[in-house]
Amino acid sequence: MTKPGKFISLEGVEGVGKTTNLEYIADHLKSVGKKIVITREPGGTPIAEKIRGLLLDHGDEVLCKESELLLMFAARAQHLDTVIKPALQAGHWVLCDRFTDATYAYQGGGRDFLMQDIAWMEGFVQKGLKPDKTILLDLDVETGLKRASKRSEPDRFESEKKVFFEKVRQVYLNRAEAEPDRFSVVDASLSLSQVQEAIKIQLDDFLSKE
Ligand SMILES: Nc1ncnc2c1ncn2[C@@H]1O[C@H](COP(=O)(O)OP(=O)(O)OP(=O)(O)O)[C@@H](O)[C@H]1O
Ligand SMILES: [Mg+2]
Repeated sequence: MTKPGKFISLEGVEGVGKTTNLEYIADHLKSVGKKIVITREPGGTPIAEKIRGLLLDHGDEVLCKESELLLMFAARAQHLDTVIKPALQAGHWVLCDRFTDATYAYQGGGRDFLMQDIAWMEGFVQKGLKPDKTILLDLDVETGLKRASKRSEPDRFESEKKVFFEKVRQVYLNRAEAEPDRFSVVDASLSLSQVQEAIKIQLDDFLSKE
């Protein structure tokens, strides 16, 4: 797919500050003349948001982990088709709160799925389309969970145990190490203004290579 726009994803374990920093990133990119589409995963379209509800809400029935993985990619396929690809084709910059790195981290790391199975699904659904830049907000799990718990009641993922999130964090860091050009790792333990300064430096570096 030819894509005049750029695709940026924001990743990290619960409570690291992804959603908090989205507007800041959007404002910075707008200030240099980019047209921005802000979206999130799972979700981003009416159908994908319904799937998000199935994935995050505590229902009466236990969602088996195979269903969880397939629903993540079902939502993603819809999101790509309806929102992300058309926006990129129109020259917009897409800013996405989580994307497929989260599937590797949560379903691969947290739920122990084989990375190669996730890679197959990624190829099937995305056909080579990946974020051009991924900002990974890295923070120790305990601090992140504390921040998230102050914000709202735990969803289905936030109810997992600490060891689950340690595995998630480690997969994120491994992926960042394996793809240093795409990933920018930001220390999310700093104050919000320091985190935003670090993000700005990474964005400006990315913009300078455009
Ligand atoms: N650098 C920071 N220092 C202190 N608190 C922060 C910082 N960044 C964000 N927060 C606070 O932490 C809480 C969680 O932030 P936010 O909701 O943005 O995290 P998130 O990564 O989107 O979490 P989730 O994965 O659950 O969606 C919010 O109350 C936010 O105000
Ligand atoms: Mg969030």
